[in-house]
Amino acid sequence: MTIQFSTKLFAQADFTTAKNLKPAFALLVKQDSDCLVMAYSKADLASLQGKAATPSGAKKASKALNSSAIGALAVLDSFLGGAILRAMLSGDLDGKEAITTLFRADPSWVAQGVKLKRVLLVGLGDTTQKHVVESLGYAKLARAALKVLSGGAIETALWLIPSFTVKPTTEIVGRLARLTMQLAGDQVYRFGVRQPTMRFKIKDTSDPLRSLIFVGGGKQANALKLAVLEGAALVEGMNLAKDLGNLPPNICTPAYLAHTAQTLTKKTTLKVEVLGRKQMEALGMGSFLSVTQGSELPPQFIVMRYLGGKPTAAPTVLVGKGITFDTGGISLKPGDAMDEMKYDMCGAASVMGTIYAAALLKLKQNVIAVIPTCENMPSGKATRPGDIVKSMSGQTIEILNTDAEGRLILCDALTYVERFKPRVVIDVATLTGACIIALGSVHSGLFSDDENLVKDLREAGKAALDTVWRLPLDAAYQEQLKSNFADVANIGGRPAGSVTAACFLKRFTEKYCWAHLDIAGTAWKSGAMKGSTGRPVPLLFNYLLTYGAR
Ligand code: BES
Ligand code: MN
Ligand code: ZN
Repeated sequence: MTIQFSTKLFAQADFTTAKNLKPAFALLVKQDSDCLVMAYSKADLASLQGKAATPSGAKKASKALNSSAIGALAVLDSFLGGAILRAMLSGDLDGKEAITTLFRADPSWVAQGVKLKRVLLVGLGDTTQKHVVESLGYAKLARAALKVLSGGAIETALWLIPSFTVKPTTEIVGRLARLTMQLAGDQVYRFGVRQPTMRFKIKDTSDPLRSLIFVGGGKQANALKLAVLEGAALVEGMNLAKDLGNLPPNICTPAYLAHTAQTLTKKTTLKVEVLGRKQMEALGMGSFLSVTQGSELPPQFIVMRYLGGKPTAAPTVLVGKGITFDTGGISLKPGDAMDEMKYDMCGAASVMGTIYAAALLKLKQNVIAVIPTCENMPSGKATRPGDIVKSMSGQTIEILNTDAEGRLILCDALTYVERFKPRVVIDVATLTGACIIALGSVHSGLFSDDENLVKDLREAGKAALDTVWRLPLDAAYQEQLKSNFADVANIGGRPAGSVTAACFLKRFTEKYCWAHLDIAGTAWKSGAMKGSTGRPVPLLFNYLLTYGAR
């Protein structure tokens, strides 16, 4: 059971100009819903009192008078028997940023024909329009409201998008609605109830909040309808990525990932091809195969194609690291929190989630996701530190540390994707612990020599609340990867560990425009709230939506 998103559009209604508010709200309050969510500013409070209290207040109010919600609070209050005014007068409603106030229906509402069971007001604070329009500012408000909506008696809610922005342009309305869905998806996600096979805790229950409906006037109709399609696809993709990440490593094996990819072809026009060990041997993927040697489970090389664009359009290729469990191999990791190495396939999960979302949305683009997947285990057959292997590119690699395995499977995948003549290749990997040290869990590490791609990924990430921070990739760091016995070593020592890992990958990407995302710090949360974040699906999906057709 997942949350459903839809729109309720009042063709004739206008929630953005003061003189049209009355008939608009008359329609709105007659909706049969558990809760209406609406934002208001301090200026709205002033106008609720009938006049601005002080000259400076008046000035403030008039400055914000172009706020979409201006006067809306007073209009709504006229249907609610003065409940909002009373709350304000008793000091319960101060308009502070992200403060929520919940009103429950009483007989005076019913007498006015109001069918809403609750109204949830969210303070915009002193925010200027610019602040709210920014994704981060909006997210603070939306998260606060979603917390109130979820986990209780509320099953359906109406979300009045125009009340959150003074500029209901297509771009802003669409982005805010999409962000709301993304955050709602995060708020109600429960691993244990997603599928019967994931029910490891008998007591798990779904979040009661099951429907979020975006309300707007006729002017917002197209933007909201499109946003709902995009947001619903995004949440599906994120949920898939979260599920795969959270699944235990005895279930989420390389074969399970391949099987999951195949099941998606039944729901969409995705085409999936899975190469086995024999085919990888024939392709000369000696680097990838060296990682899988110690495992009892067969490796899989998954190729997913979504061809929604012109046959001649070069595809965007996404490559995801799919280590379903990383013990470190013979260079064994310490035992502490080793369970979290089940998340070492989050790159794979995120590219699968992204291409699934693209296919659900029927995006008019060509996207290919490539997933090299296996376990990294120690055994008598496992690769030893000191072993030299030959990659598909022909370069030989001295494996000095078997725990630096992500780059070993990715490098062969990066050579493989040359055949697609891609417009852009983005690889996604939980590649280095050093990236967590550098960036924490705020930004994913971004590595690329292509300034345009850097710019696009930065922008896409900012708008989707799934940000990246650029780290260097200069030739100077290649020095650290020198080997006395092979073309390249697979580790470059402790200094700049994330950079040398990226520099290793760069050697296999000379034939196309490429970026690498290190998601070691962002793909999952540790501690009491341990769980997949679904990142960087929002970034990748937004990148495709905004820049993928370039
Ligand atoms: N999957 C790990 C990176 C990782 C570690 C991600 C902890 C998130 C949390 C990767 O395969 C790895 O082990 N990297 C080594 C590289 C080192 C041996 C050069 C690391 O980061 O320690
Ligand atoms: Mn490792
Ligand atoms: Zn790893």
